[in-house]
Amino acid sequence: MRLPSLRWPRKNRLPGGWPGQRILITGASGGIGMALAEALAQRGAHLLVSGRKQDALTALIDRFPNHITAVSADLTNANDRSRLISAAHAANCNMLINAAGSNQQGFFESTSDSDIENLVAINLTATLQLTRALLPHFMACPQATIITIGSTLGRLGYPGQVTYCATKFALRGFSQALRRELADTRVRVMYIAPRATRTAMNSPQTEALNAALGNAVDMPSAVALAIVRAVEHRREELQIGRQERFFTRLNSLWPGAVDRALLRQLPMIRRFVTSKEPTP
Ligand SMILES: NC(=O)c1ccc[n+]([C@@H]2O[C@H](COP(=O)([O-])OP(=O)(O)OC[C@H]3O[C@@H](n4cnc5c(N)ncnc54)[C@H](OP(=O)(O)O)[C@@H]3O)[C@@H](O)[C@H]2O)c1
Repeated sequence: MRLPSLRWPRKNRLPGGWPGQRILITGASGGIGMALAEALAQRGAHLLVSGRKQDALTALIDRFPNHITAVSADLTNANDRSRLISAAHAANCNMLINAAGSNQQGFFESTSDSDIENLVAINLTATLQLTRALLPHFMACPQATIITIGSTLGRLGYPGQVTYCATKFALRGFSQALRRELADTRVRVMYIAPRATRTAMNSPQTEALNAALGNAVDMPSAVALAIVRAVEHRREELQIGRQERFFTRLNSLWPGAVDRALLRQLPMIRRFVTSKEPTP
């Protein structure tokens, strides 16, 4: 079977550069979303930012009053989502960045039903529901872009992150399928997979485990810059980190090798993940 060219067609160029973009960013009160909001407002984009912490959103508006408006919303709540969708219509948004997300470190055996429901609700269900609700509007725009923030753990099943991995694997499938479904429209679909990033999402135990394993940890501003460049260069998928790209490729070609490598790390992972202290 001959594969068609994977290059972006010319019609997908970002029209009007960043000042021509009206962007809804979810998770803008958090580390990566806020760094993205700052980077995009500095480039002249107009932003509708969302999160639950109103004070963090207000601080963003104070810094970029001509570029940012905010709607505080819990995306797992249907009424809140409706308010946000109405605001996105009113702002005539032509880009959505799905950056809201959550994690709960812990071994799967000690995860409760409500932990699973809550994580799937915010990482997966709310992301799909918000994207679907905005799709008719995006399809009517001259050009629109949907960007979903996944993770290295959307390609690499990792001990102590079972439910999180399940949601991030699903988000990668969602983005790939939606991109193919919309391939003959003017809506571009992108998927970005950061590696470990220094934000409030990671517990002190996770930070300590990353340090003990020698895992690279990015600053949110570096992740934001990589996302900005990916959009400018028309990349459909971006996985951040050379070592992480190697490891996830190895995982898809030769999962048994990765199983054995992670088995050697398992005692250390178990010690950090189950510890009540920041460093066990
Ligand atoms: N940090 C990492 O190591 C890492 C690595 C790879 C991928 N990622 C992904 O990057 C994205 C951003 O994560 P981050 O590191 O910036 O985490 P973060 O600092 O904890 O920020 C998470 C954001 O999601 C929002 N959020 C969580 N639950 C929500 C809900 N029910 N309704 C509305 N908003 C909600 C938070 O809002 P409030 O704080 O206002 O509640 C916050 O703005 C996530 O999708 C994450 O999975 C992170």
